[in-house]
Amino acid sequence: MWKMLIVVMCVALLGCLQAQELQEHVSIILLGATGDLAKKYLWQGLFQLYLDEVGRGHSFSFHGAALTAPKQGQELMAKALESLSCPKDMAPSHCAEEKDQFLQLSRYRQLKTAEDYQALNKDIEAQLQHTGLREAGRIFYFSVPPFAYADIARNINSSCRPGPGAWLRVVLEKPFGHDHFSAQQLATELGSFFQEEEMYRVDHYLGKQAVAQILPFRDQNRKALDSLWNRHHVERVEIIMKETVDAEGRTSFYEEYGVIRDVLQNHLTEVLTLVAMELPLNVSSAEAVLRHKLQLFQALRGLQRGSAVVGQYQSYSEQVRRELQKPDSFHSLTPTFAAVLVHIDNLRWEGVPFILMSGKALDERVGYARILFKNQACCVQSEKHWAAAQSQCLPRQLIFHIGHGDLGSPAVLVSRNLFRPSLPSSWKEMEGPPGLRLFGSPLSDYYAYSPVQERDAHSVLLSHIFHGRKDSFITTENLLASWGFWTPLLESLAHKAPRLYPGGAENGRLLDFEFSSGRLFFSQQQPEQLVPGPGPAPMPSDFQVLRAKYRESPLVSAWSEELISKLANDIEATAVRAVRRFGQFHLALSGGSSPVALFQQLATAHYGFPWAHTHLWLVDERCVPLSDPESNFQGLQAHLLQHVRVPYYNIHPMPVHLQQRLCAEEDQGAQIYAREISALVANSSFDLVLLGMGADGHTASLFPQSPTGLDGEQLVVLTTSPSQPHRRMSLSLPLINRAKKVAVLVMGRMKREITALVSRVGYEPKKWPISGVLPHSGQLVWYMDYDAFLA
Ligand code: BG6
Repeated sequence: MWKMLIVVMCVALLGCLQAQELQEHVSIILLGATGDLAKKYLWQGLFQLYLDEVGRGHSFSFHGAALTAPKQGQELMAKALESLSCPKDMAPSHCAEEKDQFLQLSRYRQLKTAEDYQALNKDIEAQLQHTGLREAGRIFYFSVPPFAYADIARNINSSCRPGPGAWLRVVLEKPFGHDHFSAQQLATELGSFFQEEEMYRVDHYLGKQAVAQILPFRDQNRKALDSLWNRHHVERVEIIMKETVDAEGRTSFYEEYGVIRDVLQNHLTEVLTLVAMELPLNVSSAEAVLRHKLQLFQALRGLQRGSAVVGQYQSYSEQVRRELQKPDSFHSLTPTFAAVLVHIDNLRWEGVPFILMSGKALDERVGYARILFKNQACCVQSEKHWAAAQSQCLPRQLIFHIGHGDLGSPAVLVSRNLFRPSLPSSWKEMEGPPGLRLFGSPLSDYYAYSPVQERDAHSVLLSHIFHGRKDSFITTENLLASWGFWTPLLESLAHKAPRLYPGGAENGRLLDFEFSSGRLFFSQQQPEQLVPGPGPAPMPSDFQVLRAKYRESPLVSAWSEELISKLANDIEATAVRAVRRFGQFHLALSGGSSPVALFQQLATAHYGFPWAHTHLWLVDERCVPLSDPESNFQGLQAHLLQHVRVPYYNIHPMPVHLQQRLCAEEDQGAQIYAREISALVANSSFDLVLLGMGADGHTASLFPQSPTGLDGEQLVVLTTSPSQPHRRMSLSLPLINRAKKVAVLVMGRMKREITALVSRVGYEPKKWPISGVLPHSGQLVWYMDYDAFLA
């Protein structure tokens, strides 16, 4: 068969040779050549690539591959190739000719065993030898489920790599894992077969013309946007993908993923990064784009359960039962709708809400990124005199319209009262149907542009793969950063019952949501269930905050969100009282992960907090530089200090880094801190000390069997932790016990065992340092979430 192919190639090439000297040959192997994606987009994309490139000194062979036996596979592939179409402006006879050439260059082959891959390699080499062409490279497009990746990757790596001087590009389709851990595993596995530069992970949204235009647009309009693209001018950003279809026919995939993993973690996050990243000097440098993306990921504020609302199309569970043969009693918790509030903690975007929203079975199909600008003008003349191009009182917005909706095509819309944008010549000014209104304004109020030639996303990306343009693809670091951002939210929503919705126009206002103080919530109260079900899982608000005793001290227990908000309220009340009585409030804070949500709550929802009179101390610190991500101070800085206005002379990091050494005894850091406390805190008695409890019963950095800090005179001590970094500085138990109030925050399932154990033990600080927390004259209050407490 390959001999025939060679003959066809030679004939096809001869024509090209006449026009210009032929240089290089590319073999494209489409794995999953008879599957849905291939049928819908990939063959057409490959045909387009062929049309674009064959006259430019390239020759091709296309190998459609699958597990199916040759005869049947050939038939299926022929079907998939039937509907290839040519660009509108191509003459029908020319089109037929090109199609014919393309079909002749495309062959089906079964790729199942290691021998099949060896044979493929041999055939490619033989072709090259016969035609005398130089090999440019090979593209392997994995349009197969991820469980098949490893085997295919192994076979390619061991027998299908091109010879020296030619490139290998493997193209991978999502899903790339299910959470951070699985994505990491998959990345490690693929990394054992391929170099990073050989892998092209597709997010097809990066090939959508309006999305691909975001960075070039920002670049070309730098002058106008420079002063506008920031928190002072942007009111909010909406990144939206609404769909009318449901998940019928693909519930086996969807049930495992749900809307957040399916589209928010990838498509919408990518759009978010393109809108919000610092603009690289060279927007087509893949390396610079990646660097700026990663910086943005670092600035994203962590998501909490309250950052999102989720819904589920009410027929979804029934579809799952039918398609996956589940019993009648089965009810899925998989969300088909989600809206998430994202905040970016950097100078540019601090305080600007970014809303990411997507759903199945909604009332319309549309996708866009909308940047709504603040209206900071007052127009004196009456509204009837406002003109779209001049009046600053009309809405001001910039929309990257990804597709569909009333406009029906990709577009870039800029309110006329903002600026006249500049776009490349591949975009033209557009006119919509008369009377069309978009985002609250008539289309005529916008400068509106659409692509001269609309192109499918996969076809755009195939061209980028061919040209080695890596900026349109997801690197391993990019992927893991995104999963790192989404995984905590996914975990916290795992058992949350989504709000059921009837679908389409009937959804009415049911899914409308609002946001404030870092939280997002449905506008309407939870309505009656729409279908009889097993009843929703308990929501935090279904429970009252439980008040009881633990180790004979008051215990406050609730779901984590309620608990954090209760603790934050209590801290504020204590602070206000202390400032009223003594003029200042001395607060000592622990590090680690539990207080992060508390810090965020204090930063975003406590506007009456007397920060100007608050002194912040550290309960303990790791012996690392203060700028190290492991440093407790760094956590405090990232999640609290940078958002509130504490005078810098009221901030007291622990001196773990003196004379360029970390916690050296001779530098006397512990003594220095003790002296600072004695000098500033009356009687060395903090107004409030916030502690945690480790799974081994440690508190602050006082670990079981610690030779220092459990008793004696020292206020601050150096200690050793069983986990890294080992060396620590910590307030001692005697100092902690002088506090007026001590709050111990305990959260998460991991703490269940120690919570149960410590409830039974007496005063044994050597074994369980937490048991030694007994303020002499102050008050001890335990704050435990139900996960930790209700074992
Ligand atoms: C896919 C999701 O990645 O994107 C689908 O798996 C979704 O659930 C699709 O429907 C939407 O893409 P497009 O190009 O139709 O907007």
